Amino acid sequence: SAIRLGMMPADGIGREVLPCAQRVLQNTPGAPKFEFLQLAAGFEHFQKTGSALPDETIRALKEECDGAMFGSVSSPSHKVEGYSSPIVRLRKELDLYANIRPVIGVRGTKDDEKWVDTVIVRENTECLYVKSETSESTPEGQVARAIRQISEKASTRIGRKAFEVALARQSMREKTGATTSGNAATAKVTVCHKSNVLSVTDGLFRTSVRAVYEKDARSAGGPGRYANVTMDEQLVDSMVYRLFREPHVFDVVVAPNLYGDIISDGAAALVGSLGVVASVNAGDTFFMGEPVHGSAPDIAGQNKANPIASIRSAALLLEYMGYPEPALKIYKAVDDVLREGKYLTPDLHGSATTTQCEEAILKALGA
Ligand code: NAI
Ligand code: MG
Repeated sequence: SAIRLGMMPADGIGREVLPCAQRVLQNTPGAPKFEFLQLAAGFEHFQKTGSALPDETIRALKEECDGAMFGSVSSPSHKVEGYSSPIVRLRKELDLYANIRPVIGVRGTKDDEKWVDTVIVRENTECLYVKSETSESTPEGQVARAIRQISEKASTRIGRKAFEVALARQSMREKTGATTSGNAATAKVTVCHKSNVLSVTDGLFRTSVRAVYEKDARSAGGPGRYANVTMDEQLVDSMVYRLFREPHVFDVVVAPNLYGDIISDGAAALVGSLGVVASVNAGDTFFMGEPVHGSAPDIAGQNKANPIASIRSAALLLEYMGYPEPALKIYKAVDDVLREGKYLTPDLHGSATTTQCEEAILKALGA
């Protein structure tokens, strides 16, 4: 039977790029059959109905869908009464505790020595994003505080996810025969933290992730599951520095929510545009593909948006849902179009439209 995917284009360019991803999924040779359910979400839907994420969308996702794709949402930067981000709520409702963001360069377009092929595994449920903020008046003026929550449970499960991602990447590398440069040729997990300063919170994150690896190494009955994965660590500030100078040394990076958010957007700058960076929100059994970019109001409605982030997110979703072969075909078609350089959108200094870029990818797929 067909795989049912809930599609939430939401706002702005999400409505232009998510349909591209859908057509690519429908036309990838060897991909399973899909059924797509169009579901409402987003700020515009909130303005019309008072709800940014209708209960019906959540019900359909939970009861009828095997996976999902989200476009992008326009979140107002001021507080709007009754509004809360649908993406944050979706992650909670579906228990999507990991945000997995591969950042991949294009071979042959840059210095291959420093080729970027890194995945950032970001914890999605806690850290400063528990949004527990207070403010009080003092004789010296306002003082604002935020609570940062780090738990052993959430840190352990994100740690386990990171080691699983490292194994999955290793197996994809073996399938394609691709070898990456630098240390990333072997599977490695780098723990990102700042426990030299925040020894209690980041200290707990660090020891919890490390414990996943150390327990596995001590497991009885032969070599552990992660025996071929190495582990190291990096303080978040020097992580940013190294990411810019020698991105090729990183394979999988695991980070608490806020650091993960910042370093993954920063890493996107290394590969030319936010318009090519994909992500998947992962739980243990449910996955939701989502381009990293926002709704891009400056270019929305002009057929200028780069559809690649969205198309790669669809491929990631396929990969995580257990279909690596068709996912690889999509990755390769995208790489071919990027390398050829004839059908790139303006964010990559080309002059192609969204439609032309999508058509070039469909053609490269042999669709
Ligand atoms: P943004 O990602 O929407 O845009 C940043 C810049 O990158 C803009 O110049 C835009 O034109 C460009 N850009 C982004 N995606 C592109 C693509 N596919 N092709 C070509 N160019 C692209 O971030 P910004 O401007 O900070 O936020 C705009 C709105 O999006 C805000 O309401 C914000 O809250 C929301 N947002 C939503 C996210 C989500 O849905 N997960 C993530 C980030 C922002
Ligand atoms: Mg961000």
